[in-house]
Amino acid sequence: MNILVTGGAGYIGSITCVQLIAAGYRPVILDSLVNGKVAVLDRIEQISGQRPVFIEADVRDRARVVQVLREHAIDAVIHFAGLKAVGESVAQPVRYYDNNVQGSLVLIDAMREVGVKTLVFSSSATVYAETQDMPLHEGSPIGATSPYGRSKWMVEQILGDVAASDPSWSMTALRYFNPVGAHPSGLMGEDPQGIPNNLMPFIAQVAVGRRPSLRIFGRDYPTPDGTGVRDYIHVMDLADGHLAALRYAHGRAGHHVFNLGSGQGLSVLDMLAAFGQACGQTLPHEFAPRRAGDLAAFWADPALAEKVLGWRVQRSLQAMCTDTWHWQSNNPKGYDA
Ligand code: NAD
Ligand code: UD1
Repeated sequence: MNILVTGGAGYIGSITCVQLIAAGYRPVILDSLVNGKVAVLDRIEQISGQRPVFIEADVRDRARVVQVLREHAIDAVIHFAGLKAVGESVAQPVRYYDNNVQGSLVLIDAMREVGVKTLVFSSSATVYAETQDMPLHEGSPIGATSPYGRSKWMVEQILGDVAASDPSWSMTALRYFNPVGAHPSGLMGEDPQGIPNNLMPFIAQVAVGRRPSLRIFGRDYPTPDGTGVRDYIHVMDLADGHLAALRYAHGRAGHHVFNLGSGQGLSVLDMLAAFGQACGQTLPHEFAPRRAGDLAAFWADPALAEKVLGWRVQRSLQAMCTDTWHWQSNNPKGYDA
């Protein structure tokens, strides 16, 4: 099967391409490079022996998307392309809605024209409303609090409406919890621009000496050790979740929604300790005030994905840290080194 992977030059999309190739699919990457790296193509080829077709284009370029769907005889689409920085989305809401919502609309309309009817979409746990009722399951209340989160929820609703309008569509939204880790080869991983917003890439940059110390945002949360608790998922498990979703959804019409998480909550201090073990150092850290907008604790109920897709996480916290360390220490400056 030929799979169009929008955003396939990014962190999760590129690693999913490796897993797609390993499973016998043929990924075709379309990416505007607004946050992706062409260097991933060399790395994918190094790992899998195959170089995916790469098209530098914006998913909002309807004519180009139609042409790519036709030329490459695409059977299904995995739609990773999107902007993902929560703080930036608050400052630039129009840009976020245009890229994430309009981008998805243009893609769906191009797919309709060509008759490609299977779409797997990157959604996020950030669509859920704040609650203390854990774990979060697919029916938990929705209530995204940022333009980024609302853009994901808007697209999920569009997928539902389109699936309801025409029974030949198969629309799947995957709600990721906190993706971390790298390909175990150490050749591919997360390469954020500037100062990382997220915990794991920040810790990794402290470990290689690019940042002096981790600031732990809050030590007075109602959690076992007072620091924030999240559901971290190895990016390889996440990639495999896409394959499971694709196998399930292709040829199965309707609107499907799945959490992709481990079901286990880990604190900032748990992550710091595990990473310290992986890299053999005690990592410098200090406590700082809570970060605005942060929740104390959330984690997934991944039971639906296990029951329906036959998927659940396989990789441990130790693997998340060892693989990230392998990637970061081999590529201290990311793909540009
Ligand atoms: P990423 O930024 O590494 O990858 C996204 C890719 O999409 C980039 O390569 C970027 O160049 C490309 N892109 C963005 N807008 C585009 C457009 N209009 N046309 C074509 N290409 C475009 O991010 P990632 O971490 O790999 O995330 C992939 C998807 O998963 C995103 O939609 C993100 O919102 C979602 N997601 C990510 C996380 C996370 O923590 N990483 C969590 C939940 C959901
Ligand atoms: C962030 C996004 C969320 C996205 C998720 C995916 C925000 C507000 N939310 O959530 O939309 O879906 O990433 O991975 O950006 N921490 C520190 N020091 C740091 C960085 C983080 O202590 O330098 C703490 C945070 O307070 C939090 C935990 O580490 O308790 C995880 O933070 P982060 O990796 O940013 O993820 P989320 O906050 O879950």
